[in-house]
Amino acid sequence: MSIHIGAKSGEIAPTVLLPGDPLRAKNIAETMLEDVFCFNEVRGMYGYTGRYGDKRVSVMGSGMGIPTLSIYVNELVKEYDVKTLIRVGTSGAFQPYLKVGDLVLAMTASTDSHINKLRFNGMDYAPCASFDLLLKAYEVAKERKITVHVGGMFSGDSFYGDDPDWWKIWSAFGALVVEMETNGLYTLAAKFNVSALSILTVSDSLVTGETATAEQRERGFPLMAEIALEIAP
Ligand code: HPA
Repeated sequence: MSIHIGAKSGEIAPTVLLPGDPLRAKNIAETMLEDVFCFNEVRGMYGYTGRYGDKRVSVMGSGMGIPTLSIYVNELVKEYDVKTLIRVGTSGAFQPYLKVGDLVLAMTASTDSHINKLRFNGMDYAPCASFDLLLKAYEVAKERKITVHVGGMFSGDSFYGDDPDWWKIWSAFGALVVEMETNGLYTLAAKFNVSALSILTVSDSLVTGETATAEQRERGFPLMAEIALEIAP
């Protein structure tokens, strides 16, 4: 057991899928994995280990935002020896051509979080995806004729900001989408020398105001989880 995860040693697989929502973790485990057991219920942050084909894989909620995700990533890597972390999350589109349901592979994550400013004494750090995982995800998507957009994105600390136009500078500089975790995930993966990738589904658009219907959410989420499970080592 670690402070926030109730699993016994060996119960978590070396590869963990990390949706933000613990109920999405439960859904992925129940619908896409076999021989599943629940290794964590602490704080309702459900975690499961099961089998995908002949691969042993875990899936656990990360919570929302860099601070929460960072607690779980620290403990997964340091206490449970996890080597590969694949975030499967939702995001808001910054670009007009990105539609609800589209998939994004995050190469790098800019942020307004000051966690790395503190860590790097005021200097910037450019966290990036594992190239190996990114390439594999791109190839799996291509093979299955799933369109994916690949590029930089933005991990924000505020879901409800004060300035309605805050996102436009990021859009102008080519960031694809906004969510709240990838910058923290990629930074910690670099710190601990493990592999990480964020696969994101567009659930809403800051450009058009479009938001996902319940049906689109159901269709979009299995797709990114499917890619994540396929590339799991
Ligand atoms: N902002 C931040 N995080 C998000 C969004 C958003 O618009 N959509 C999905 N995750």
